[in-house]
Amino acid sequence: MRELSGKVAVVTGAAGGIGRALALRFAAEGMTLMLADVDHGGLAETAAMAAAVEVRPGTAATTGDAGLPVETGGGVQVLTQIADVSDSWAVRHLADRCFGELGAVHVLCNNAGVFQGGHLWTRADKDLDWLLGVNLWGVLHGVQAFVPRMIEQDTEGHVVNTVSVAGLFASPGAGGYSVSKFAALAASLALAQDLAATGAKLRVSALCPGAVDTRIGESERNRPPGLVTTPTPDEVEVRERIGRAAGRGLDPAAVADLVVTGIREERFLLLTDEKYAARLRLQTETLLTGHLPDPR
Ligand SMILES: NC(=O)c1ccc[n+]([C@@H]2O[C@H](COP(=O)([O-])OP(=O)(O)OC[C@H]3O[C@@H](n4cnc5c(N)ncnc54)[C@H](O)[C@@H]3O)[C@@H](O)[C@H]2O)c1
Repeated sequence: MRELSGKVAVVTGAAGGIGRALALRFAAEGMTLMLADVDHGGLAETAAMAAAVEVRPGTAATTGDAGLPVETGGGVQVLTQIADVSDSWAVRHLADRCFGELGAVHVLCNNAGVFQGGHLWTRADKDLDWLLGVNLWGVLHGVQAFVPRMIEQDTEGHVVNTVSVAGLFASPGAGGYSVSKFAALAASLALAQDLAATGAKLRVSALCPGAVDTRIGESERNRPPGLVTTPTPDEVEVRERIGRAAGRGLDPAAVADLVVTGIREERFLLLTDEKYAARLRLQTETLLTGHLPDPR
């Protein structure tokens, strides 16, 4: 889909980090936004920032050809919805609002995600329920709630699932996260293949960033009280390491640029660094020899 201006984008996990950067980047393209998250304050902040973004000159939104309501001041229309993506009802309600109030959805970013470290054998069911609930079920709920109506609307469209390099390489000390992200990658591949096989006009991207400078290392802030567990030393060690790595990571705005390019060029796998492509090749070759890949 080359033209984004005047189209509708939905972003989950939009209260900060990569989701916020996506919202701001789409706003600059002149897209109408529906932003969702569990964090009220952060979501309101992103919405205000997105509404204040100056739309790039030359887009349909600035020339008045968008055919969708545009707020005064040159900004784009921004709607918000509190929604926990692990809750299928909440995501269906989000989709109902989008199609009901905005009439269409062209770009769906299943981006909300949480991180937890720790060896697989120290993870409690509640830990895995939380990780899989947000990182896998969040994607699946987005697909269930939005894709049938996106197909039916019969326009070009794009689904972007935020996976991770942890969906390509098993991260030592973060097995639960990797399981959830490998599964999110499988969901993305299956969705893309099914859409292609049925001739739908929708494309799919699996966004697989390395470290990005966000609050992913502080994911516990969003854990529902019913799924809280006592931290174990291995979990704390990895969480702190990931927090430090994220602090040295990419600017989320660069990831948002990559996503917009990926949508325009209809690319499935979006990697933030060429070194991951080389590592993926090496991992495949090593696996085919029957040996365990080097985790670095
Ligand atoms: N930061 C990194 O280094 C990195 C690397 C690879 C992949 N990712 C992925 O990027 C995505 C975005 O994370 P981020 O790095 O911006 O972290 P972040 O913690 O800054 O942002 C995540 C957002 O998701 C929201 N969220 C958490 N649980 C939710 C739920 N149940 N329902 C709805 N929203 C929820 C949070 O409130 C937050 O706004 C995640 O899927 C993450 O796994 C991040």
